[in-house]
Amino acid sequence: MITVTVCVGSSCHIKGARDLIARFNDFLTQEAIEDKVELKGSFCMERCGEGINWKIDDEVVSSPSVEKGVKMFQRKIRQALKNQKSKRPRKRTGKKKA
Ligand code: FES
Repeated sequence: MITVTVCVGSSCHIKGARDLIARFNDFLTQEAIEDKVELKGSFCMERCGEGINWKIDDEVVSSPSVEKGVKMFQRKIRQALKNQKSKRPRKRTGKKKA
């Protein structure tokens, strides 16, 4: 499970954090990956001057706008899902090598 935490403090709220969450949610629904990504809100991340702030797991991301934030989110989620797949152990088929 990937955890995405969006700051909903007053500065990020004014810059569009609520819209960002809605757009993140739309993307997850569109891609049918709601069960792989948890969306949460948080208090101020103490980076108010850097944009709309959010985290993907422990990585902090500052988006200058909602549009750019959505693009960053899509790219990072796709990458994180790809990384998770490649880390997953392969299933054994039970066949032995001759
Ligand atoms: S309100 Fe979001 S970082 Fe401060």
